Amino acid sequence: MPSVAVIGAQWGDEGKGKVTHYLAQQADMVVRSQGGNNAGHTVVVGGEVFKLHLLPSGILYPGCRAVIGNGVVVDTEVLLEELAYLEGRGVDTSGLVVSDRAHLILPYHRLLDGLEEDDRAERRIGTTRRGVGPAYMDKNARAGIRMVDLFEPERLRAVVGWNVDRVNRILERVYDVPPVSAAEVLAICQRAAARLRGMVEDTSVLVNEALDRGQRVLFEGSQGTFLDVDHGTYPYVTSSHPVAGGVTIGSGVGPSRIGRVLGVVKAYTTRVGDGPMVTELNDETGERIRQVGHEFGTTTGRPRRVGWLDAVMLRYAARVNGLDALALNHLDVLSGMEMVRLAVAYELNGTRLTHYPASLSTLERARAVYLDLPGWPAFSPEIRRREELPGAAETFLQAIEQEVGLPLAVISTGRERGHTLILEDLFQPLERSST
Ligand code: IMP
Repeated sequence: MPSVAVIGAQWGDEGKGKVTHYLAQQADMVVRSQGGNNAGHTVVVGGEVFKLHLLPSGILYPGCRAVIGNGVVVDTEVLLEELAYLEGRGVDTSGLVVSDRAHLILPYHRLLDGLEEDDRAERRIGTTRRGVGPAYMDKNARAGIRMVDLFEPERLRAVVGWNVDRVNRILERVYDVPPVSAAEVLAICQRAAARLRGMVEDTSVLVNEALDRGQRVLFEGSQGTFLDVDHGTYPYVTSSHPVAGGVTIGSGVGPSRIGRVLGVVKAYTTRVGDGPMVTELNDETGERIRQVGHEFGTTTGRPRRVGWLDAVMLRYAARVNGLDALALNHLDVLSGMEMVRLAVAYELNGTRLTHYPASLSTLERARAVYLDLPGWPAFSPEIRRREELPGAAETFLQAIEQEVGLPLAVISTGRERGHTLILEDLFQPLERSST
């Protein structure tokens, strides 16, 4: 079963795009399972740079089906814009298929996202304000509007009317802001229906049939483990499931159909948005890593918070995702430093914590216990074998493998796409031991 799930093992922005790109070139199908246009990735194909927020990167590869699964929340205005943007640049977008069960992000979700954030004041989450959270709220409140509804005009009119009435009561009575217009929301839905007709179907059938035929399916992750609403640093999380379990629910495949789960990490930690971060660096070292690593958000442009790599987090990610291996990015960003650190445990009031705690106050007060390792000089991004890395870089990598208990399957050696060491055939099915 040649399928791979690429999962962010930190707070998103781990550089999943690079390994995704490598795998997408070999894939027959690329599937997104959750999240919405809160994600952002830059893909370089044939020397051209494409910035996407919603579409799966598979859209850029001829012959590859790009699937937006049922677990994704779709802002149809963004989807139409991205399609027009790609078509304007000569990309054939006919390989796109959108799940009929995917829920819509509508203008009132974006409005509510901003109002709820402002209302939280100092307890704000730092959301991307794209309406993702309110759309998932409606989905779980069983009030959402799905793709399939776009093609049933009477039902659409009724469900839009009911939702707009409901939301307007909240807008006027809770937030004291002007109501939204049902006619405008309906017009957005009708535009989407006209453009997307023929592209919307039961994508679970499509993905499972591809797997039945032995085709290569890439499940493209977005966000990261610590943004998961169940497993992340709640409440500073997104409203969906970036963990590997989210792939199965969000694409309509069973867990046994995922061949390999690859966790993507950076050689250090970053975070956008608020919430505790035990290894955070609020000093010159952090600033250096931010500048060298270009750590500014793709979606919002916000500077990312930066810290040392944290093996406590990665052990947790390995466990909740059932990771098979790690892909490590941005090793070169740490080159030239005198010393690098790897957090191996936390300490609080003399107690050593080896499991990532749920309690925010524990996380806020915990101190990282570090393994200090010597730095390494800059190395050529063109190296082709792991053995060519400087000795101290190899020591750092081995410390990660040992502390996390997982092998490295991919090591990125520089910014360019080709600057990557692929240590195994990632689409090759794994023999998992039953112990
Ligand atoms: P939301 O997903 O817009 O509701 O934002 C919730 C939290 O997830 C905020 O801290 C965001 O910064 C963060 N977030 C959402 N998507 C991404 C992503 O693709 N990369 C990094 N952080 C993200």
